[in-house]
Amino acid sequence: MGLSDQVARPLRSGVAPITTVILFSILLAYVFVLYQPGVGPGAIQRLGWQAWEVINPTPTVPQHLDDLGLPANEPKPSGTPTHWWEAPASTPTDPAAPSTFPLDKWLPLLSRTTGLSEITISRCMFPPFMSSVCAPKQRYDEEFRKGGEWVRVDRDINAKSGYWYLNMYYRRTRRFDVPLITNITLLPQGGEAALQDRASWKQVSTSVRDGVPGLSPLYLWYKLGPTLQDYKDENATQKIITELDVLYGDGPAWWSFDKVPTAVTPGKGNAEPVWITYRRGPGKALPTVPPLHFNPERNGTYKILQVADLHFSVSHGQCREVTTSPCTNADDMTAELLSRTLDAEKPDLVIFTGDQLNGQKTSWDSKSVLAKFAREVIRRRIPWAAILGNHDDEEDMDRKELVTHLAQMPYSVTQVGPQDIEGAGNYLLKIRSGDPSATHILTLYFLDSGGYIKANFGPFTQITDYDYIRQRQIDWFLQQSASIKPVLRPFHPDGAADLGHISARAKKPVPEAAPAQTLAKPNALMFYHIPIPETSNAPDLDASGKPLDVGSQFEEAGGSKKNAGFFEKALLSTFESARGPPEVKVVGNGHHHVTDNCRRVKGIWFCFGGGGSYAGYGRLGFDRRFRVYEISDYGETIRTYKRTEFDKIIDDVVLVGRGALGA
Ligand SMILES: *[C@@H]1O[C@H](CO)[C@@H](O)[C@H](O)[C@H]1NC(C)=O
Ligand SMILES: *[C@@H]1O[C@H](CO)[C@@H](O)[C@H](O)[C@H]1NC(C)=O
Ligand SMILES: *[C@@H]1O[C@H](CO)[C@@H](O)[C@H](O)[C@H]1NC(C)=O
Repeated sequence: MGLSDQVARPLRSGVAPITTVILFSILLAYVFVLYQPGVGPGAIQRLGWQAWEVINPTPTVPQHLDDLGLPANEPKPSGTPTHWWEAPASTPTDPAAPSTFPLDKWLPLLSRTTGLSEITISRCMFPPFMSSVCAPKQRYDEEFRKGGEWVRVDRDINAKSGYWYLNMYYRRTRRFDVPLITNITLLPQGGEAALQDRASWKQVSTSVRDGVPGLSPLYLWYKLGPTLQDYKDENATQKIITELDVLYGDGPAWWSFDKVPTAVTPGKGNAEPVWITYRRGPGKALPTVPPLHFNPERNGTYKILQVADLHFSVSHGQCREVTTSPCTNADDMTAELLSRTLDAEKPDLVIFTGDQLNGQKTSWDSKSVLAKFAREVIRRRIPWAAILGNHDDEEDMDRKELVTHLAQMPYSVTQVGPQDIEGAGNYLLKIRSGDPSATHILTLYFLDSGGYIKANFGPFTQITDYDYIRQRQIDWFLQQSASIKPVLRPFHPDGAADLGHISARAKKPVPEAAPAQTLAKPNALMFYHIPIPETSNAPDLDASGKPLDVGSQFEEAGGSKKNAGFFEKALLSTFESARGPPEVKVVGNGHHHVTDNCRRVKGIWFCFGGGGSYAGYGRLGFDRRFRVYEISDYGETIRTYKRTEFDKIIDDVVLVGRGALGA
């Protein structure tokens, strides 16, 4: 029997038409309904007249700091010498950095110059990341006329207050002939009567309070200004709105963004206020932070304020173990305490040593909390660095995202660090002398001690322990340490800056009976959040047999039980010179709130910050406190003390250098 018979017989028997019809239907359904052509290599390149825009990495807009309540920079009296760190910073352009980005991605951290041409609001029963069914229809004719596809602002304006998901969508365009949005506002029904130039305003038909019970509707209106080609002046791109975002709580908007003055929802009960925020033009350039340096006017000192475990929330924060009653706004009280401490201490650098965010469901929108935790420091134009604790990434951002945001905040010197080792925010800062030699005389290392170790039990994930500093981080630290160049110590400043232009070198004051200088690496301090187990080893003893341990310890060491050997392999194996002491003299930890001691183990001091926040757990009678490190003699002497909420200075000790404890 031939093949044709096999085909032919069922055909003749009448079975065939049914099978054929079924098969043919499946084929048709596949071709016309189910089959989706693959994206192909072209989609990856995303070439096209609309797809890309050029990003200006350094916005040219002058700095406006007034919205932070910053006083204007005092003009320098004429004739004051100019220091090396005051030279205008040259912004190195990273050749590897991408200079173009797709238009249809919501990337609010990017400074963009393209404008928006249309806004809409869409409600959805499913979280938008799960499904695109609720996205407004992409219509190609409209896309052509208005430029750009719909882009979702990936922030739910109904969060915690409405029944369903509510998202803004906008079109971003590079076209020169499409009117661009120059203003947005929120108005109740009929409120548009008060708008000037009413005809140029457009209303979004869905209320921003859609699905929020008990509130009257409020509508988003946007004003369409001229097209780019109709703008007559050079500053056109500073008038158009280039980005939208959403803020939760009562904190400030993200740097460079402004709040629409009316709240979407005012916040009631457990719901926090919701605000729409927008950026005009390419945004404000981040203020330049001069390279970190010792202060020559303060006799070669450098003061660091450690701020540990702030535990901030989207809300005003819950008070924990406080005697103040009533206490309803822990975050604000903490900010106020920090503000007083900053004014009293006037530090050169503030270091946030982790758990800035409370996690535990209360910092559910990390970005809104990030925007507020460092506000008092930023307002005073003090450079600051941050590392992460175990709570920071418990909510909607992972560690890398968090550090990326931290690094893009004003006056932050936080760095994202290498990508190929564990953790985010492993970096180091070099503090230089204030004299013209700009010598690197103090090193600050920052490491990410991680969050939690999790194990999978079937479908469930269970936290088994705190995380710890891993081998690749040890390797990275050893590599960095090896690259640090020895300098002549103790360091003597070059007097040129102070003597103006009269033959500086000839008049350089020779210190009387100057101690002999030796070649050694600068002293280093290191900061990570979770202590290593060796921190609670028996302390070293001084000459009279007294343990070197200053301060209180009201709780068990609560670090990880896992250990990659950071103490032996890293801290005890880098030296300031061939036969010198360890390079890292002091380790600063957070994590414990009612432990604030400094203990020396095998020559290295381990100090805890002590809790400074009313929102973090505490202990009645244990005042909130911040630790200060004062480094003097151009890096030789390290002194530390704590300032309490009642402005008491306690446990004032010299750890390293002249007059050091146990030396
Ligand atoms: C934006 O619109 C609001 C409401 O009409 C108005 O008060 C504000 O001055 C406008 N801003 C600009 C920059 O035009
Ligand atoms: C553009 O902005 C600069 C700086 O703010 C200003 O000096 C200049 O006058 C502006 N130009 C116009 C045409 O408004
Ligand atoms: C710096 O040192 C000199 C001499 O030791 C002293 O007179 C002066 O008060 C010191 N200045 C400060 C700001 O500590």
